[in-house]
Amino acid sequence: MSFERRTHMAGDIRSAHIGQRVVLKGWVDGVRDMGGVMFLDVRDRSGKAQCIVRPQGNATDPSDRTYELARKLRNEFVISVAGVVRERSNKNPKLPTGDIEVEVEKIEILNASEVPPFEVKEDTTANEDLRLKYRYLDLRRPSLQAIIAARHKIVKSIRDYFDERGFYEIETPILMKATPEGARDFLVPSRQHPGSFYALPQSPQLYKQVLMIAGFDRYFQIARCFRDEDLRADRQPEFTQLDVEMSFPDEGMVYDVMENCLARVWSNLGLTLPSPFLQLSYHEAMSRFGTDKPDLRYGLEIQTLTEMVRGKTEFKPFTDVLEKRLGVIGAVVAPGGGAWSRKQLDTLTDLAKVYGASGLIWIKVAAEGCDSSAKKFLSDDLLRDIRSVCGAREGDLILVVSHPKWERAYTILGALRTELAKRLELLKGKEFEFAPAWITNFPMFSENEDGTFTYQHHPFAAPNTHDWARRHEGLGQVRGRVYDIVMNGYELGSGSIRIHERAMQEEVFDLLGHTKEQQEEKFGFILDAFKYGAPPHGGMALGIDRIVMLCCGTDNIRDVIAFPKTTTMQNLMDGSPSVVEARQLAELKIQIAAGITKDMNI
Ligand code: AMO
Repeated sequence: MSFERRTHMAGDIRSAHIGQRVVLKGWVDGVRDMGGVMFLDVRDRSGKAQCIVRPQGNATDPSDRTYELARKLRNEFVISVAGVVRERSNKNPKLPTGDIEVEVEKIEILNASEVPPFEVKEDTTANEDLRLKYRYLDLRRPSLQAIIAARHKIVKSIRDYFDERGFYEIETPILMKATPEGARDFLVPSRQHPGSFYALPQSPQLYKQVLMIAGFDRYFQIARCFRDEDLRADRQPEFTQLDVEMSFPDEGMVYDVMENCLARVWSNLGLTLPSPFLQLSYHEAMSRFGTDKPDLRYGLEIQTLTEMVRGKTEFKPFTDVLEKRLGVIGAVVAPGGGAWSRKQLDTLTDLAKVYGASGLIWIKVAAEGCDSSAKKFLSDDLLRDIRSVCGAREGDLILVVSHPKWERAYTILGALRTELAKRLELLKGKEFEFAPAWITNFPMFSENEDGTFTYQHHPFAAPNTHDWARRHEGLGQVRGRVYDIVMNGYELGSGSIRIHERAMQEEVFDLLGHTKEQQEEKFGFILDAFKYGAPPHGGMALGIDRIVMLCCGTDNIRDVIAFPKTTTMQNLMDGSPSVVEARQLAELKIQIAAGITKDMNI
């Protein structure tokens, strides 16, 4: 006779169910034999409930068969349990089901489990590689279950939101043309066209633009993207974008759509997001926070000292920088850092050097005046002025950096700002505080060491009309109609108003150094499409994985993806990437170069 069907999820049982008979199905989360009675925790995706099994049986099963069965249970066995909900005498306020327990009438073992390689518990100490190999066990942990559930809710909110606003979700190809831009492509060999390859999309960028040309007006997609790039804590080779494109937009329309979408996502999870988002130009973000993705949950803003220092010192690191048109001298203040040891200051100097500083000057503010590592070269008056511009108080530490290139100077100061926030624990307890901002007015091109230019965002972003008209005066001055959303130190998304005229697109490609043949070969289809009535269009893409990370308070992207890759791009559970059979390679007319062995990619 088969066991009854499930009546309740284990984590949903409350005092209101007292007296009811329930049937639960799930995993054994723990068994405790208290000599006489057994306590059994049954876990499913909703949580867990305590069940109690007594040896003397019960009204429906007066034998002790159930008790004997319970004694065979081990963690991770899959079972059915039926019994009556009772009030617990020993309540556990930490558990949502802590007021009740289930007085077990019968148990069925649906499947046994070997002793798992690590215990499925929240505070597991098992290393991440082991947990990734047995991902299905790790995913049973409540925190990961909650993240995957939140991810589902987030994607559902997004789909509902865009549907309500008349956006169509349209799928774009996964096998596409290789157009190596930005990151490296993942390539897929074609069997039917030996020697030819598809690429997996780095993003649906070109297709969504073509969809606008095709007249769909408003498009979105929860799109899987693939990039063969170095991995970091917030990057995976395979990740998901919320990809959006609109016809006839201006920046404000895109901001509205995206901000309201995020507000909906956050509020559906019971979280709040400040609105409207702050807007910072790229230059302002760099000069105040030293990065184009600032964490705005704390201050420690950078102070620019360049002009106030001019003419007041012979100190070479400063005078050298002051000679350069784009040189910057700037400072950050560590409140209370005046008491830091020599060693603590040295590690800050080391950090500044990693980011390209030739040195770091510190100033300790004390009642009797300022002490400084450059005291010999900076007069008391200048030190006092610096202190006053920085708003530093007695006991504070001022860190001063100079560099002949403004972006580098601010990047070094930004790295120091981030480090100071860590040392001063300014983010403690702020995991669920959110500080979003739009970063705008990015330069369209960045200059390479050899004087050539590359695009900052991608080559399809439209230039600021006013700057474009003056492009002959210097490409470095041309700003793009590009915008990012940043939050808590992450770049959450990026977008732009696009170029929709063939001539302008060709000119941008020319400026980027693409020959006409290269343009035709890589982008001929979109250049052609621009000839047949391309509407003005624009949009953006947000990283879904990063949204989930923020909403769930984790800084590890692997936590928010059911089956992630390691930093060496492997899936430890299925063992990919793996060698393939010689027959498969032969069909594809692919030969592995001599000397490549199976172990080389580890
Ligand atoms: P971009 O390359 O800036 O823009 O990507 C948009 C957003 O996607 C997320 N993201 C990633 N997330 C996890 N792992 C990665 N390796 C990874 N790479 C990017 C980030 C990022 O902000 N087509 C343009 C968008 C547009 O212009 O509409 C694009 O892909 O959150």
